[in-house]
Order: sequence, then C-alpha cells, then structure tokens
Amino acid sequence: MGRKLAAGNWKMNGLNASLKEAQALAEMFPAPKVDILLCPPATLVASMAAALAHTKIDVGGQDCHMKTSGAHTGDISAEMLADAGADYVILGHSERRADHGETDAVVCEKTMAAVMAGLKPVVCVGETLAQREAGETLEIIRHQLSASLPDAVDLSKLVVAYEPVWAIGTGKIPTLEQIAEVHDDIRATLTARYGDTANDVPLLYGGSVKPGNAAEIFATSNVDGALVGGASLKAADFAGIITALE
Ligand code: G3P
Repeated sequence: MGRKLAAGNWKMNGLNASLKEAQALAEMFPAPKVDILLCPPATLVASMAAALAHTKIDVGGQDCHMKTSGAHTGDISAEMLADAGADYVILGHSERRADHGETDAVVCEKTMAAVMAGLKPVVCVGETLAQREAGETLEIIRHQLSASLPDAVDLSKLVVAYEPVWAIGTGKIPTLEQIAEVHDDIRATLTARYGDTANDVPLLYGGSVKPGNAAEIFATSNVDGALVGGASLKAADFAGIITALE
C-alpha cells in the first residue's frame, strides 16, 4: 500500500486572492494523517509555497518543460518550479495531452527532468470514452505507463494518477469495480516492471471526486488517494475529501 495523498489540481483557476483558500486548508489540517498537495497555476506557485512554507501542505506545478533551460518561450523548467518552492509536478494530464499534443515520449522526458530537479512527478494516465467503449482501457493504460515512465526512476518519488478522460469535470465516475480493475492492473504493471518497491507508489484516482463520493472511492482496491480538480478549489470541499482519506 502506497502512502496516501490528496492532491488538488487548480488547473487554470485561481488568482492571488485564492491563496486564502490554501491558507484556510492549512489551518484545518495542522497535523494531517495523509499527504496533502495543492497545484495552482504557475503564477501562484511561488506565493503559495511561501504562504504554506510552515504548514504540512505541499505545493506543485501542473507541467514543466523537459529541458533545464534555454530558448523555450512561455515554458517553465522543473528546476524553476523547485526554485519557486514546489515539491511536486503533475505531468501528462489529459488536458496537456489534448491541448498541447503531449505524447507519452514527451511525458517520459518531463518525468526524468522532474526527478533530476528533485520534484515528485504525478504522472497521469487515462482512457477516453471511445477507448473504454471499445474495450481498450487496460491496453491503453498499460501502453501509457510503459511509454510515459522511464526505465530508471526513483520510485520513492513517483506518483501515478488514473484519470479517465470522460470522468474529468463531468460528474460521471466509473463504477468502483472499474476503478479497482484499472488500479489493480496499474499496480501489477508497475511491480512487473520495477519490482516490489512499486507497491509503495501512490496510485491516485482522478475525475469528479467530491466529498460525497470520496470515501467509497478510497475504499477501493489500490486507490491511495485522489487527484482532484473542481472540488480542490474551495477549502471546505477539499477538506471533506482529505478527511475521507484520513
Ligand atoms: O487533475 C484533476 C482532474 O482532471 C479532475 O478534475 O474537476 O473532475 O475533479 P475534476
């Protein structure tokens, strides 16, 4: 069983004023029993990391470039995120894959860059609705894992998130049996490739997680936490999810 992690992905939401939600969350969980992570937009990483420096809440980016520096206008390196105070970085989110054409190979390079910079990568995988309906889910996820993760990776830093694309922001979630099937398969895929140490890699479920459905999702096989979008924006909502994980 991996360590437990409740991660919030603010996506392209949140201005400076939103930091009060992060601070409110930190006040609600002075000594949390699980790891808590907030990933705000890049413009807020440094200020959030500073605001949460003396709390138990970690901060992460939502993407990084595969290179350490250079002529890449608009991009941010893993090292820059670490320098801004980030501990983690989300990589290969389906919105990055769809909006920016990120391939598994790109995600793999970014994962290596993140680890080199001392960040913990949260590598996302997940099938589309068409792929699920075609019965291809496990095959797709196995392929994404195989190509998005490097052969050599510090497993104590790695986090994997399963986010079915069709469940993101839609209010629809897979059945608990479907979540268990995928999470068990991810665990088996990771241990077959990396050995038993991969049993400790946290496997997060993401896609329409709310305070009302979190407990049953967390009780599902090989689910070690959640990567939460909309419900991580308000401290009160995210707190309900964290409490369900504790
Ligand atoms: O990365 C989290 C995300 O994609 C899930 O979003 O809003 O369905 O919780 P949401």
